[in-house]
Amino acid sequence: MSRLRNDTFLRALLRQPTDYTPLWLMRQAGRYLPEYCETRRRAGSFMDLCRNPALACEVTLQPLARYELDAAILFSDILTVPDAMGLGLYFTEGEGPRFERPLREEWEIRNLSAPDPHLELQYVMDAVAEIRRALDGSVPLIGFSGSPWTLACYMVEGGSSSDYRRIKTLAYSRPDLLHHILSVTADAVIAYLNAQIESGAQAVMVFDSWGGVLSEDAYRTFSLAYLERVVAGLIRERDGERVPNIVFTKGGGLWLERIADIGCDAVGLDWTMDIGRARARVGDRVALQGNLDPSVLFAPPDVVAAEACKVLDSFGPHDGHVFNLGHGISQFTPPESVSALVEAVHDHSRRIRRP
Ligand code: CP3
Repeated sequence: MSRLRNDTFLRALLRQPTDYTPLWLMRQAGRYLPEYCETRRRAGSFMDLCRNPALACEVTLQPLARYELDAAILFSDILTVPDAMGLGLYFTEGEGPRFERPLREEWEIRNLSAPDPHLELQYVMDAVAEIRRALDGSVPLIGFSGSPWTLACYMVEGGSSSDYRRIKTLAYSRPDLLHHILSVTADAVIAYLNAQIESGAQAVMVFDSWGGVLSEDAYRTFSLAYLERVVAGLIRERDGERVPNIVFTKGGGLWLERIADIGCDAVGLDWTMDIGRARARVGDRVALQGNLDPSVLFAPPDVVAAEACKVLDSFGPHDGHVFNLGHGISQFTPPESVSALVEAVHDHSRRIRRP
């Protein structure tokens, strides 16, 4: 199918047979790795690291040098898109991401426009191209974006939020303004992901990290409808190869069937739902990605292995599973836990397939 030496991840996303269950980890390049902290220190800051394609490439490859992961993920952040829309992203120690100019006034919302990925976001495309060259056909490269809803949360709140007060106020009192933000952002996300695909990304993932804070009705209106628009706008084939996409709504387990129906290739699952039950609900309409609780990695290696086997056993000997955590890996994860995880997933899934 492709010229990759290891295309297990792409095959699993397309629900084709594989010898074992492929895995990668959300936030696999990050602060739990001492070599990442060293490169970030050299770069100066997290955003300097993202804006420097050579260093972004270096940290993308770090987890692959340590572990037999089946995919690489572009090192960047979902908030580069609102930053390119002029909101002024910065990070403060302990507080996480913030915007200098959050969307507060109606005129600011009306002035919003989708950035050209080849102007303000060219540094991301350069990183994608450089990483593809460095991977040299070993494993596929995943590109990504935030979902329109999740990006809008940050753009309206101005940073992380515990109650989503500002954006929910907007949703219930000025839905027209929120739909405008979501619509412009959906256009931005489509252009951004397609530019990543043109630059070399072989699969793409949309992170809807905050979809799960909504009611079912509001989720359909403000998150899922725009995810559907994004999926419909994506390039599906490039150089004769399918470019599969993954949609991940954290907290979306309740709405699994609806998510599986928007036309995506795979659905990401957080750790709250049993993956076997999830599969029973969606059948083989989509592949599933997940879903070990990232906190399992704080336990001793034998427990990590046993918990990983439970996820694999629950999914069963079917095609269409990409193993992952149910959310990003914690900065406090002992790196040895990841070795135990990778080994358990590869060994046990081979045994399930060839008992
Ligand atoms: O998975 C990967 O290895 C690729 C890189 C990646 C990062 N962020 C790097 C990063 C990806 C895919 C993201 C996505 C992202 N960013 C999401 C969606 C996924 C999720 O976690 O729900 C969200 C919500 C963000 C916004 C964001 N960026 C937050 C909340 C933070 C953490 C702030 C903190 O201090 O913990 C970031 C910063 C960030 N993005 C870091 C990394 C490695 C840590 C920055 C550092 O080095 O200090």
